[in-house]
Amino acid sequence: VDKDGTRRFALTMQRGRSEILPGKPVETWGFNGPHLGPTIRVARGDRVRMAVTNRLDEASTVHWHGMRLPAKMDGGPHQMIEPGGTWSPHWTIDQPAATSWYHPHPHGATAEHVYRGLAGMFIIDDPAETELPAKYGIDDVPLILQDKNLAEDGSPTGDPLDGTFGILGEHMLVNGTHAPFLNVRTERVRFRILNGSNARMYHLAFADRRAFHVVGGDAGLLPAPVQVEQVSLTPGERVEVVAAFTAGEQVLLRTLSGSDDIDEGDFDLLKIVAAPRLAASPRLPSRLAGAPAPIAVPPNARVRRFQLNGHDAINRKEMDLSRIDEVVPAGATEIWEIENTVYAHNFHIHEVAFQVLDVDGEKPPAYGSGHKDTVYVPPKSTVRLAVRFGRFTDPATPYMYHCHILRHEDSGMMGQFVIV
Ligand code: C2O
Ligand code: CU
Ligand code: CU
Repeated sequence: VDKDGTRRFALTMQRGRSEILPGKPVETWGFNGPHLGPTIRVARGDRVRMAVTNRLDEASTVHWHGMRLPAKMDGGPHQMIEPGGTWSPHWTIDQPAATSWYHPHPHGATAEHVYRGLAGMFIIDDPAETELPAKYGIDDVPLILQDKNLAEDGSPTGDPLDGTFGILGEHMLVNGTHAPFLNVRTERVRFRILNGSNARMYHLAFADRRAFHVVGGDAGLLPAPVQVEQVSLTPGERVEVVAAFTAGEQVLLRTLSGSDDIDEGDFDLLKIVAAPRLAASPRLPSRLAGAPAPIAVPPNARVRRFQLNGHDAINRKEMDLSRIDEVVPAGATEIWEIENTVYAHNFHIHEVAFQVLDVDGEKPPAYGSGHKDTVYVPPKSTVRLAVRFGRFTDPATPYMYHCHILRHEDSGMMGQFVIV
């Protein structure tokens, strides 16, 4: 912390060696370490300054996925960091409590850089939210879900730009760990779950199909906990859940097979082992303080239409770093209509918070109705979003919108907008 109260963080992108399979050290990439990166935790109102150093031998960027900030600080493909260079964005955290993340965003190489291990969590606390479990690593546990294909020697293999979706791995990692387990010592645990995979969609459930509560989505808490037995998560999406355990039990968190090509196969993700005695947890509140207010759509809201074509274009155009596709007035609330003509995609918009109005005319599930920044767009369907834009204007520096299946993003299923 600086004299003026600014909180400083240093991140270094580097190559290293780690053991994905025990006893088999392999090359992985990470921030400040060999694999993945530290969790950054800030509070609403904090001023932050990052020093992001690139110790790789190729250029990259670091994007703050979910952060509301000026376009120059966003870390998209226009904020490249050359090898040996340091980039120092700064901004003030001014958004509701949420689980965000950070990852590289160099155009054409995002899939590879993320697959090699560059990703980390970015948690935003809000003094308005105090009722949920918040002891990091004890009853507030981040879970970064990623799938990999591993060679005989334990190293990640495969071409993340291959095939229709890129990598759909057969080995599930949680926080970079293969076959992980978690000892829990409290009656309830809050999990902040990030789908940090290149392409895979997860349908998360406990092996015994116990109910749990979803308390938050990508961009903030839900107004009230929603009880579910299963939640789905496409790449880039986050969900916060609270699950209850009984002393001495063991239960598996799993992903269940679906029918949309990016969700094939049942896999165990995490073994949870409850201690013989569990510390009491706060009761789950019936309303969640700190949840953002619903986004009101003005009657004359502008409607923009986006069609996802093949695996490399939006509105029949491939991404062009020198083309501005959309110009949005500061502070606008608009309706964005995303039509998917073929196979599975999702849609992420930088800088904004949105709510899903409908998917082919049907309301989204309650757990997916809060503030978000990334949404699944099922094959041959149309998703309508109420999008709230921020007030940082910069006619010269664009933000991105794109499919977060990284193979698609890298191949050109991405566009640029500026806020003026
Ligand atoms: Cu997490 Cu433009 O992405
Ligand atoms: Cu983003
Ligand atoms: Cu896609």
